Amino acid sequence: MRHDHLLTAKQLSRADIETVLDRAAAFDDDPAAAAERHADALLALCFFEPSTRTKMSFETAAKRLGGDVIDMGSVESSSVKKGESLADTVRVVEGYADGIVLRHPKQGAAKMASEHVDVPVVNAGDGAGHHPSQTLLDLYTIREHAGLDDISVGIMGDLKYGRTVHSLAHALTNFDVHQHFVSPESLRLPRSVRYDLHEAGAQVQEHDSLDAVLPNLDVLYVTRIQRERFPDEDEYEAVAGEYSITPETLEAAKDDLAVMHPLPRVDEIAAAVDDTENATYFEQAHNGVPVRMALLDLLLDDD
Ligand code: CP
Repeated sequence: MRHDHLLTAKQLSRADIETVLDRAAAFDDDPAAAAERHADALLALCFFEPSTRTKMSFETAAKRLGGDVIDMGSVESSSVKKGESLADTVRVVEGYADGIVLRHPKQGAAKMASEHVDVPVVNAGDGAGHHPSQTLLDLYTIREHAGLDDISVGIMGDLKYGRTVHSLAHALTNFDVHQHFVSPESLRLPRSVRYDLHEAGAQVQEHDSLDAVLPNLDVLYVTRIQRERFPDEDEYEAVAGEYSITPETLEAAKDDLAVMHPLPRVDEIAAAVDDTENATYFEQAHNGVPVRMALLDLLLDDD
């Protein structure tokens, strides 16, 4: 993989994805092989929005590679609060670190930041845009459970504002995957993403309800309806709680359906699903470590 930054899943070819996933699998099999690969590396974590998984798994990944992290901390405790621009912040931080992991509420923020620095920037989520490192761990999880070709994947929930959805949908066009999008009318995929999928020749269908498509799925990727992305609270209330996966829902599914979710969840997957063979979302979150180790290993490599 020869990229300076990871900004969007659109930049990833099938070969890029397989390179990352194969290296992640090698780290998973032999964690000791990773130790000291980047002993002097320092990774800057600049999170302008809350995070548990992305931030902590990048930190774990950097440390497992023998490196370390510096953390901007919360917006409230940083000089962002004094009005510092994102461009100035990343220009300063590149002097402290070998790479920057950036999460920001504005779509396009990571791309803009990458234009101001010479160290690699990883987009850890830019508003309703993209979240490509999440996609890599999603693909790793799908590959483990179902393979990445000749499968049907259902993607359900907030398709309009869901950055994990936008990135995953683009990445899946590299594989022989039938994508089924399930959402209320008001949360359908943005026109730009639909256009890109069409241009890529993707096999895509949109549905209002999961019922008709569930029996055919190998993977069901559920997402949270994200209250924080709605410009209007009434619009959120109109669709909140629209879908909920329960063990009863899964009676119509294939026995080996993998139920995934980028997490955090609210009420879209009932806790009782955690005890089923289908629940894959905690394993998916844990896969963030080897996948982000592989990604950092490739991006920080000077060779
Ligand atoms: N999946 C994900 O991005 O989780 P966090 O918001 O906790 O990082």
